[in-house]
Amino acid sequence: MTAVDYHEQQPTVLVLDFGAQYAQLIARRVREARVYSEIVPFDISAEEIARRKPAALILSGGPASVYAEGAPRMDARIFDLDVPTLGFCYGMQLMALELGGTVPRTDIGEYGFAELEVVAPGCRLLEDVPERSQVWMSHRDSVGEAPDGFTVTARTATTAVAAMEHVERGLFATQFHPEVAHTEFGQEIIKRFLHDVAGIPPVWTMVNIIDETVAAVREQVGEGRVICGLSGGVDSSVVAAMLHRAIGDQLTCVFVDHGMLRQNEAAEVVRVFRDQFHVDLVHVDAEERYLALLAGVTDPEEKRRIIGEEFWRVFFEEAEKLEGVRWLAQGTLYPDVIESGSKTAAKIKSHHNLIPFPEGVHFDLIEPLKALFKDEVRAVGAELGLPDEIVHRQPFPGPGLAVRIIGEITHEKLELLRAADAIVREEIAAWDRDREVWQYFAVLPDIRSVGVMGDERTYGHPIIVRAVSSADAMTADWARLPHDLLARISNRVINEVDGINRVAYDITSKPPGTIEWE
Ligand code: XMP
Repeated sequence: MTAVDYHEQQPTVLVLDFGAQYAQLIARRVREARVYSEIVPFDISAEEIARRKPAALILSGGPASVYAEGAPRMDARIFDLDVPTLGFCYGMQLMALELGGTVPRTDIGEYGFAELEVVAPGCRLLEDVPERSQVWMSHRDSVGEAPDGFTVTARTATTAVAAMEHVERGLFATQFHPEVAHTEFGQEIIKRFLHDVAGIPPVWTMVNIIDETVAAVREQVGEGRVICGLSGGVDSSVVAAMLHRAIGDQLTCVFVDHGMLRQNEAAEVVRVFRDQFHVDLVHVDAEERYLALLAGVTDPEEKRRIIGEEFWRVFFEEAEKLEGVRWLAQGTLYPDVIESGSKTAAKIKSHHNLIPFPEGVHFDLIEPLKALFKDEVRAVGAELGLPDEIVHRQPFPGPGLAVRIIGEITHEKLELLRAADAIVREEIAAWDRDREVWQYFAVLPDIRSVGVMGDERTYGHPIIVRAVSSADAMTADWARLPHDLLARISNRVINEVDGINRVAYDITSKPPGTIEWE
């Protein structure tokens, strides 16, 4: 269940999704301009749009050609609804085709940077754009003739109609992509459309998000009690802080500490939520229980399965001890609920299915972050007073250090890895370019080797330092850490962590490697 229907309280822009990657980026850019936006499937009907009363529409980019087999089309009656509409790339071509313009088939595309020339000074959409600027293009076909009544407002060397508008009808379009950072004045164009053309005020702020969510949660929950699983990650932490603001003592958080968190992490969760926020927190120290189950297990999938199943077992054991709990809070985010540009886009993945409720156990779900993107969740978390270490935490697998210990997991190995990992993270964090690194940590492989310290022969573990740059974890490159930084890490780890006698640096990109080792 969605905690808040923001579109009922906020002027909303609907982004018609002709291709997921573009639609999500556009929706985020609109929100950065402080206007609430939602993604809807491209085949949404004019009636449905009229019912939802959006303040504006944006048509996203999409597949290479409007002539491709199965290329998505839209309900053209939408253009008659008198809702300000902006089309990008594929969205512009559809607008042109549906309204009587032409989109000649071509085999010559335009990909990458292009110089845009504004050819209609005083035009509405490109008012803030200088006569010449840089834009990002990614298309094959393009508009040949704009439909009747439209003014051509810009061109590039290869695209005669790079932007067009029909001010009286409120229809605007660009062949380039204003939503990507490479388009110099892209965000200005989006803001002009939203604030000046469509007249939408910039009211989507973190304070508003929090106030509205808090109000909605209070209404949804009433006097009821809510349980929330805390992991120390960003999403569950923000859910907990938000719910606590909304319903105070009606919330109980259960922190299942599997013993595989990083150094000080468990203590930090307890400090923040129990001591700072005064949340009713159940801290279950389950390390021994987990280690008993994991004894002798070396297969990575098996380790993950055991840890995942045990989490829910411990969680529901605790839940059963509490009385009168009706609600279970979950940190589901917006990207989890949108499926991309297919006919099934409106279908929302059911997260109910992911929770293995034991026989006879039932909770209603409350998902207060369901409308938010990750960057918004972080901003909300900061606004709610969560510390930086939680708000800007690097991605960390649910099974924790278990995926960074190769082979059997034991208490001793966990302690070794925790100590080495803390040094790796401390040293890289102190480097002035650490924000360029997506993720960094230590891995403990299942080998030992001979070394020498002082006059003594050692037979110890190596650790592997992993540091990668990435935009989204789908691909990654190993970070070019300075040699003196690597040297400091190596010296400190070997001097300070008894049992480790070698430090290696992983110079594998993804693909072919992965970020984690397992
Ligand atoms: P790989 O190793 O597949 O990791 O390149 C990609 C990203 O996903 C993170 N990761 C996880 N995150 N639960 C999570 O929440 C998990 O089980 C998990 N496993 C990997 C990993 O840290 C990297 O950022």
